[in-house]
Amino acid sequence: MTDPFEESGGEPESGLTAALTPFDTDVEGALRPRNLGEFIGQETVREQLDLVLTAATRRGVVPDHLLFSGPPGLGKTSLAMIVAAELGGSLRITSGPALERPGDLAAMLSNLIEGDVLFIDEIHRIARPAEEMLYLAMEDFRIDIMVGKGPGATSIPLEIAPFTLVGATTRSGALTGPLRDRFGFTAHMDFYTDQDLARIVTRAADILAIPVDPDAALEVAGRSRGTPRIANRLLRRVRDFAEVRADGQITVPVARAALEVYEVDQLGLDRLDRAVLRALLVQHEGGPVGLSTLAVAVGEEATTLEEVCEPFLVRAGLLARTPRGRVATAAAWDHMGMARPERGSGQPMLRMEVDGGPDSAR
Ligand SMILES: Nc1ncnc2c1ncn2[C@@H]1O[C@H](COP(=O)(O)OP(=O)(O)O)[C@@H](O)[C@H]1O
Ligand SMILES: [Mg+2]
Repeated sequence: MTDPFEESGGEPESGLTAALTPFDTDVEGALRPRNLGEFIGQETVREQLDLVLTAATRRGVVPDHLLFSGPPGLGKTSLAMIVAAELGGSLRITSGPALERPGDLAAMLSNLIEGDVLFIDEIHRIARPAEEMLYLAMEDFRIDIMVGKGPGATSIPLEIAPFTLVGATTRSGALTGPLRDRFGFTAHMDFYTDQDLARIVTRAADILAIPVDPDAALEVAGRSRGTPRIANRLLRRVRDFAEVRADGQITVPVARAALEVYEVDQLGLDRLDRAVLRALLVQHEGGPVGLSTLAVAVGEEATTLEEVCEPFLVRAGLLARTPRGRVATAAAWDHMGMARPERGSGQPMLRMEVDGGPDSAR
């Protein structure tokens, strides 16, 4: 049996390009919202996107290119699928790392038919030559194919069908200016409120026929780090516990006991988050410390820390990014149940949250 919780995560496999029809009942599909109406939360993004799509449809043109940015698991891929569904076109999926050679992209682009949506996940990782080809494609629906090598090489222009590019990125700051400028609309996805996450948990539980009490849904939501993908994953773990150790019904005590077993704390921090905080507090006395040093301390990739752990730790007020490095806040010491050491006058300003850009304080 396929498990609808099993997400492919951020990127399609390298080189994978798949055409999905909007109402495909694929594995991933079961829990994904199918249209804007089913998409819970992110009201601003939903309203803006609805306007863009409706206006273009009325005018009978393809909508502007769209960029969705935000941490993993907030619904970027789901929104891309919704865009294709709302437009009635088909969705072609690829990812930045898969587009190493311009030829890979040229093949995709020349196969598009009018009204298709081309989804490029992790678009900030696209190789430069492919990116340059994309500029022309986005602007003029045209690409230049190079034929031959050396002085005899010529470029042959090739028309491509009007399409909408949907880009997703966890690091919009890593996009080049020219690429960013070619998107007509950028949606910044923000973390979800507990109430919205509770609705997402309840919806998922409904679809999967898991009995869950409303306040238990809120309990799961509160530990989901503002992230629907995590909410759905925790729901599945809690369901396991409820079926094995209880009578199958997810109540508040069952949810709490389950999440304790899985080491998800009250704030939703998991092992890695706590490992990061511990390294920061114990090994570096609360910082400031550089990202790569922290990454080595916890044995993780710097990008994982930067894109997965940090956005939430910053939002939870546990960590601050400063020009000199990562710094733990007073709340971090409290949360980890540790006493903050006395410091001299060189103490960093904890409240100062300097721009938080992804590349600050590397
Ligand atoms: N707004 C939402 N409403 C309901 N479910 C959502 C929403 N956003 C995300 N999800 C759920 O979270 C999962 C992960 O979302 P996804 O679109 O893959 O995130 P991203 O592409 O940003 O990493 C989806 O499969 C879906 O089940
Ligand atoms: Mg995705």
